[in-house]
Amino acid sequence: MSRASLDKQPHEVASMFDGIARRYDITNDVMSLGQDRAWRAATLRALDVGPGDRVLDLAAGTGTSSAPLADRGVLVAPCDLSLGMLGVGKRRRPDLGFVAGDATRLPFADASFDAVTISFGLRNVVDTHRALTEMLRVTRPGGRLVVCEFSHATWAPFRTVYENYLVRALPKVASVVSKETEAYTYLAESIRAWPDQHELAGRIRDAGWADVAYRNLTGGVVALHRGTRPSS
Ligand SMILES: C[S@@+](CC[C@H](N)C(=O)[O-])C[C@H]1O[C@@H](n2cnc3c(N)ncnc32)[C@H](O)[C@@H]1O
Repeated sequence: MSRASLDKQPHEVASMFDGIARRYDITNDVMSLGQDRAWRAATLRALDVGPGDRVLDLAAGTGTSSAPLADRGVLVAPCDLSLGMLGVGKRRRPDLGFVAGDATRLPFADASFDAVTISFGLRNVVDTHRALTEMLRVTRPGGRLVVCEFSHATWAPFRTVYENYLVRALPKVASVVSKETEAYTYLAESIRAWPDQHELAGRIRDAGWADVAYRNLTGGVVALHRGTRPSS
């Protein structure tokens, strides 16, 4: 895949996700060997929110991460750029208030949320810095950010095996389950091109978030980054 394929415009990203929306969740389960469920559970724990808390689930896709929040009484707003992903989500969970919106121009007022989360979405947003500053704007002072995103395996021998899986096996596995090979070749390339844990923490700080920290899941295949909006 060429560099140009990674430099997608927002409407190209949206239409790519429109194309995979119908089989998105099953493909995820197969490709991650079911690990995505543990990653989502860890994200939920890191968010540490309860009934009545207002949470923005950005790049929410079909609402896979929003549903467990809503089920525990959290006032969750699932927001995404892809109408295809939102449509699948709305059919599955009509009770959720899905919102169409771009992470770089969020359709929410300042300080609207107690916490903001984004799972496997920040890597797909064309302007990461802009998205991180928008997330800061809509979070109340003292409120929390949790980013769950693919990252870089920390143990060198495992990293080699994993990167081989990404480049060689993953697009083939995905083509059997979803028939959308291009989107999953993009997935593999975008994971390899994404900043490592330390660099992403720096980008989150540069956007104005405080107390930024991260922890690795599955040996760094995924990292959970946290931050807090400064109180003043
Ligand atoms: C890999 S999916 C993740 C979906 C969901 N968060 C999950 O955990 O399953 C990435 C999502 O990011 C969305 N996305 C990409 N760029 C976006 C943007 N600028 N604003 C909002 N959503 C965006 C895509 O439409 C897609 O639904």
